Parts: sequence; structure tokens; C-alpha cells
Amino acid sequence: MNIGIIIHSKSGTTLRFGRLIAENLKEQNHIVDLTELRTDIPVNLGSVRQPKKFSIVNIPDCTKYNAILVGGPVWAFSASPVIIGCMKELKGISGKKLLPFVTMGFPFPFMGGSQAITLMSDTAAGLGAKVLPGKIIPKLFRNYNLHMKKVASEIPSYFE
Ligand SMILES: Cc1cc2nc3c(=O)[nH]c(=O)nc-3n(C[C@H](O)[C@H](O)[C@H](O)COP(=O)(O)O)c2cc1C
Repeated sequence: MNIGIIIHSKSGTTLRFGRLIAENLKEQNHIVDLTELRTDIPVNLGSVRQPKKFSIVNIPDCTKYNAILVGGPVWAFSASPVIIGCMKELKGISGKKLLPFVTMGFPFPFMGGSQAITLMSDTAAGLGAKVLPGKIIPKLFRNYNLHMKKVASEIPSYFE
């Protein structure tokens, strides 16, 4: 499959997870295109509940992909406004599998991860995507790198 991975990452954790996912998908002979989102002005904080004005300058056209993964950090107990802003503008995701993923600073999914995945899933479903179960990586535990690797290695099974 031709798979697009779209990522918002301020400090690099979600990007690292996305790159691991890309490696695992490539090992299964998928073609993977990873886009790290950029904005016209720096967006260093914010909340989806009070979105600031900014534009994303490199939203990919998803018509060329067979499936899409979308990842970002948890901000203010939900998804980052950058990833949600991007998702609302995605073209060509209707009828395609879409898997959302997040990384978060707090240890438990209920501290923002679950809410972020719900919002990302609802946004994608509103655009007609076939939403797959979202993945959450909490960073506080010492072994989170291992957890990241394990989850990344399981993701190709959704795209067989
Ligand atoms: C503005 C801001 C708000 C954040 N809010 C939360 C939060 O509500 N819950 C949480 O678990 N982590 C929160 N974090 C931590 C990030 O989710 C976490 O460090 C994440 O892995 C960063 O991903 P990145 O390196 O890809 O930017 C916040 C970080 C920032 C910068």
C-alpha cells in the first residue's frame, strides 16, 4: 500500500514514534511518505478549545494514499490544535483506513490521550475515513521507548 503518515511534533517525540512506524511499514513492503507539519507562525502552546490563528503550510494531498496515519502530541488534555487543524482540511481520506496516534507527558491515557484520540477519530470519521483503534504512548514510565517500539511493530497488521 501507499501509506501517508502525517505528524505534528513540537519536541520530536511523536516524530520519533512516527519514524518507527514508518520503518515497520516499510519492512512489510509498503511505500511510506512521512510529512512533518509546519505552520506559518510558531505554535508552541494552545488548546483545541481556544484555537489561535495559524495556517499549516504543508498539508499533504491524501488522494495519493491508500491509508493514512495521523499523529500528534497531547496538549491541554486533548489533541494538539495543529493536528486537528490539519485533519479538518485533509482531502482524499473518505473510505480509507486512518489510524490516529498520540504521545503524552502524563502517565495515564485518561490524562489527555484518550480525549485526543476521540477527537482525532471523530474528526476523521466526519470526513468519511474508516477509523482504526488509536494508539497512545505515555512518556512518564521509564520503559516508554520499549512500549513505543512494541506498538510500532504491531501497526503493520492493520494494513495487510
Ligand atoms: C503546550 C503543551 C501542553 C501539554 N499538555 C499535556 C497534557 O494535557 N497531557 C499530557 O499528558 N501531556 C501534555 N503535554 C506533554 C506532551 O504531550 C508530550 O511531551 C508529548 O510527547 C510531546 O510530543 P512532541 O515531542 O512530539 O511534541 C503538553 C506539552 C505541551 C508543549
